[in-house]
Amino acid sequence: MNVAILGVGTVGAEVANILIKNQKLITARSGKEIKPIIGVVRNLNKPRNTTIPLTDDIQSVINRDDIDVYVELMGGVNEPYRVVSEILKRGKAVVTANKALLAYHRFKLQNLACDTPFGFEASVAGGIPIIKVLREGLSANHILSINGIMNGTSNYILTSMMNGGVKFEDALKKAQELGYAEADPTFDIGGFDTAHKLLILASIAYGVHGNPEDILIEGIERITKEDIFFANDFEYVIKLLAIAKRVSDKIELRVHPALVPKDKMIAKVDGVMNAVSVIGDAVGETMFYGPGAGGSATASAVISDLIDIAREIKFPMLGYKAPLEIMQAELLEQDKIRTKYYFRLKVEDKVGVLAKITNLMSENNLSIDSFLQKPNIKKEDDATLFFTTHTSLEADVKRVMGILKEQEFVKDEPFMMRIES
Ligand code: HSE
Repeated sequence: MNVAILGVGTVGAEVANILIKNQKLITARSGKEIKPIIGVVRNLNKPRNTTIPLTDDIQSVINRDDIDVYVELMGGVNEPYRVVSEILKRGKAVVTANKALLAYHRFKLQNLACDTPFGFEASVAGGIPIIKVLREGLSANHILSINGIMNGTSNYILTSMMNGGVKFEDALKKAQELGYAEADPTFDIGGFDTAHKLLILASIAYGVHGNPEDILIEGIERITKEDIFFANDFEYVIKLLAIAKRVSDKIELRVHPALVPKDKMIAKVDGVMNAVSVIGDAVGETMFYGPGAGGSATASAVISDLIDIAREIKFPMLGYKAPLEIMQAELLEQDKIRTKYYFRLKVEDKVGVLAKITNLMSENNLSIDSFLQKPNIKKEDDATLFFTTHTSLEADVKRVMGILKEQEFVKDEPFMMRIES
């Protein structure tokens, strides 16, 4: 089985190298020799970590008759969509790790692919076979929820900040050096990469349509050492979470940093590791853990798709052959989210400020669960206040945040984070 690799960066080079290095094993497992015969790159002068032949002429590779599967690792959305569509129209199989492509075009690609194999295991959580879990292993279940840490870069940064007191910028730089981050790291830290992955999983679990613009996405950029201080003091860790769940007849999808109690399994997922918990109505809770980024972990997932194609195993791309009943469900409106909340406020430390804030909270249905005041030793008329609430409605929290922002005694933009226990 001849393979062309479109995009020979960190992952592409690893795909070629593992196919060569583990050739005997892969041939035994797949029943065919899987050969990377050509790679396509934009810049032929850049040194590459592999010995396969390279070209910068993508069209000549698309037009070749001797290629059976195309591995798309180009990055971006529009150009890969054009290229992959053309390949599928030619009836050739595709394997991709491109979550942004799928976040926007998965249903169109499914229609185009029909019976042509289309693998995308590497698009979510790197080396964790979570697509297979949802599409195959748990296919008997109604999926009640998916909860995950699905961005290695953000988890690496948050872990370095929590455990090592490392500054945000330094941790990001290190993640980039280690090859975890996206070309544009705002995708990682802004939550967009996680949102792309969540949409892919939710389309298998629930058949939900929707683009990243339709769901709640918040990143980790505003987390400060004061939040880390509060989390440590109150036995929480901070994680960038992806959450999908059924809420009566709606589907709730959201991505944001959250305070998670230290004793939860997901709180122990550190560094570049990812984890996804899936609750099914028959199986109960299952949890999957593994490396979420990095060349060889992602290449491992790409090659598992190539092996499935060589074995001629056919799966419906998104895991269903007829529409799912749940596909009628709409996305839950963001204002209707219900969870617990954390606030950090920098205020003037003077008479009546705390009373005004707690009154405002009670007038807007927010019940306080815990409170901490951290005086500023250097500047005595300032203090940082931390509150957590009992389960509240997002609309109430947003209203309170808006009012607080306008108060004279509030010094900085108030900060809010959700608590997932
Ligand atoms: N930049 C991604 C991450 C790579 O950090 O998880 C895998 O999608």
